[in-house]
Amino acid sequence: MLIINTIEEVRNHLAKIREKGLSVGFVPTMGALHEGHLSLIREARKENDYVVCSIFINPIQFNKKSDLEKYPRNIETDINLLNDEKCDVLFYPSEVEMLPTTKAETFDFGGLDQFMEGKFRSGHFNGVATIVKKLFEIIEPQRAYFGMKDYQQLVIIHKITKDHNLPVEIIPCHTIREEDGLAMSSRNQLLSKSERKQAATIFKVLKMIKIHSGFSTINEIKEYVESQFRKSKTAKLEYFEIVDMYSLKPLKAWAESNNVIACTAVQVGNVRLIDNIILFS
Ligand code: PAF
Repeated sequence: MLIINTIEEVRNHLAKIREKGLSVGFVPTMGALHEGHLSLIREARKENDYVVCSIFINPIQFNKKSDLEKYPRNIETDINLLNDEKCDVLFYPSEVEMLPTTKAETFDFGGLDQFMEGKFRSGHFNGVATIVKKLFEIIEPQRAYFGMKDYQQLVIIHKITKDHNLPVEIIPCHTIREEDGLAMSSRNQLLSKSERKQAATIFKVLKMIKIHSGFSTINEIKEYVESQFRKSKTAKLEYFEIVDMYSLKPLKAWAESNNVIACTAVQVGNVRLIDNIILFS
């Protein structure tokens, strides 16, 4: 695998790849790679001739300095994992290279950022969109792969590629889970043993509400979820919303949408985890 640190070098290299008529699949990450990321690399491998992964811990998408500081960093292990997956290029730029001005662009997300993550993490999606748009302009992939765990991010990235006419197909990929159902996340490694056990409650509750969604109202489901987290001293519910899968607008009644997803964020100790489940579509 080639490791490239500069924009100029990766652009020149990929121009040659495209000249040969090869398709490029791209997996943007912030490192601390796990099976979830590797599954994206495998999907990219299946559908493209050439696979590029980027690792860049994007400071402008963190709204808390402490969160950025403690974000896990394992570059040596990441390189080994990417080599094992036969990734062709790792783009691993410095902060100065990617963000000479450290400023996020301001995007019009058409309201998609008003709920859930957008509401609780001010400026987060402008930071994500700034970096993802830059990466797409540098790498110019045919396809880019994103996990469904970050569902709101996926919908927002889809919108910005459409709005800015970026010629890249966004490929959503299933959330990869641990044996007990916890969605894989780089942040999981920050959990203590007892917090890790508590974190499994998140998906247990989501699975339960999928069963209940056929015969309970949205209000009843919300009350059930809140009561489940009230029981726990370590896992604190930040939000739980049942929303339309496209507009991301919170629903009050099932009849308001035919495509419905439940999304949640839970603070487990000092670690903030998100997850979701499609209720029907
Ligand atoms: O999902 C992530 O890891 C990040 O938000 C992304 C898409 C790499 C942008 O920094």
